[in-house]
Amino acid sequence: MPTRVLVQALMTGGGRDYPHLAGPLLRSLELTHHFELEVVTDPAALSLGRARVILAASDTALAPGQAEELNAFVRRGVGLVLLGGTLAAWNAQSALGELARWTPSGPGPMTELVLQAEPSHAITERLGPELKLTDELYLSEGPPADSSVLLRTSWHFTEQVVAYEREVGEGTFINLGLGSSPSTYEDPLFQRLVHRSLLFAAGRRPPAPVGVALIGYGAIARDHAASISHVAGLRLSGVCDISAERRELASREWGVDVHATARELLDDPAVGLVVVGTPPVAHADAVLAALAAGKDVVCEKPFALRVDEVDRMIDEATARGRLLTVFQSRRWDPDYLALRDVARSGSIGELFYMESFIGGYSHPCDFWHSHEPISGGTIYDWGSHYFDWILQLFPDAVRTVSAHAHKRVWHDVTNSDQVRVDLTFASGAEASFLQSDIAGSRCRRTSPRVSRCCGPPAAPARTRRSSSCRLETNTASIATSPTTWPGTRRWR
Ligand SMILES: NC(=O)c1ccc[n+]([C@@H]2O[C@H](COP(=O)([O-])OP(=O)(O)OC[C@H]3O[C@@H](n4cnc5c(N)ncnc54)[C@H](O)[C@@H]3O)[C@@H](O)[C@H]2O)c1
Repeated sequence: MPTRVLVQALMTGGGRDYPHLAGPLLRSLELTHHFELEVVTDPAALSLGRARVILAASDTALAPGQAEELNAFVRRGVGLVLLGGTLAAWNAQSALGELARWTPSGPGPMTELVLQAEPSHAITERLGPELKLTDELYLSEGPPADSSVLLRTSWHFTEQVVAYEREVGEGTFINLGLGSSPSTYEDPLFQRLVHRSLLFAAGRRPPAPVGVALIGYGAIARDHAASISHVAGLRLSGVCDISAERRELASREWGVDVHATARELLDDPAVGLVVVGTPPVAHADAVLAALAAGKDVVCEKPFALRVDEVDRMIDEATARGRLLTVFQSRRWDPDYLALRDVARSGSIGELFYMESFIGGYSHPCDFWHSHEPISGGTIYDWGSHYFDWILQLFPDAVRTVSAHAHKRVWHDVTNSDQVRVDLTFASGAEASFLQSDIAGSRCRRTSPRVSRCCGPPAAPARTRRSSSCRLETNTASIATSPTTWPGTRRWR
């Protein structure tokens, strides 16, 4: 972990209460753990000797000699980042004016500004196409030619520069210009802008992005591509799909190199990470090829159809020292997290029994998902999420696994109509998963439920109480039904 950047934050104001206004921003910066923040409210308390970056929000003029001192420090490598009206308050001092080379006038009235971030600058990349902040705008003729513009806005049908940075000697001067209203300091995008400006002013540059390639460009891979495009440090570098139509789609949507086989993509040294999003039967071959090519791999769920494939993939990753993980995305579903947190808190006692269900009565789809040799079978699709949940809720070793399948109605597909899997754990706890396409009860397919997690009270209580949890994704609610324990139980 890189060392923290020592930032001295000068928050001072006569007319505008910057120390108070900037509170949410300073708290957000603390939470990043990237900075050691020293906040001073008196310009005379600025001690430039130690700080790597000075962050200032002030409407008070600098003390005699301080502008010269700041100028010299920036030239020797210190960063200076100005917020709100600070430049307007300090600019008259020529040594400061020489750093900025930008004479602000105004400000205009407080109003909503529609800001365009420069997409190619490290400070403003991926901030989104448009930021809206209610703030004051300082107008000017524009920054000097040797500066880089960070934010622009439209003002009375003219394009105005709002924020810019320029290298001065060994240091960096950044004027963000914004920061006159409480809502600006509370805005997460503004907080991110300041965070990045401070790192940039400290000379920290983002590392080269990791090239990510997708094997399989189907429904989920399109989501992966979109996510990759939003994550700083990742760059979509190539797509492989056996379908010409899907390759054409990827090329059109992302403008990346597309391939009919994985070979070229795996030979590309710019690719560091491969995401495998093929149908399940094709996971293992793609993962093994990527690992053999020295790539880190994220594989879609279900990881594989057979245990021996899983063993081979893990052995290959271990032998080559590569990262290999499975995209168990539903591990972060808010309803599951709520259930997990309640279960782990101990407030409903020790879990010893759990039933889970997904399904209803409906004709299975005619895609690969319903064809057992490709899908793995009925329980592989949703089941990989449910078993992932179960194994986290019951951390003990699995003792037994038994399953029962029915084929009664949907004979045009090869997956079973209904499968129930029962697990028992070393602790004696039990969990079951039932997936059905022939369930007559009105269970909605899109509403995964975990029901009936039950156990005795965590602590001895005068009124003994056992609990049931029912969790539905649509409502994200947990209902705890008190019952008389161990007498009659009425689970619903
Ligand atoms: N984590 C989740 O929430 C989630 C959601 C949906 C799907 N998935 C998983 O993602 C995987 C893909 O599902 P999908 O719905 O995107 O399927 P899909 O059918 O939409 O896409 C699969 C793509 O892989 C391509 N393909 C098949 N074999 C290939 C091979 N050998 N090499 C290269 N490309 C190949 C197909 O042409 C197709 O474009 C499955 O394992 C599925 O279970 C996960």
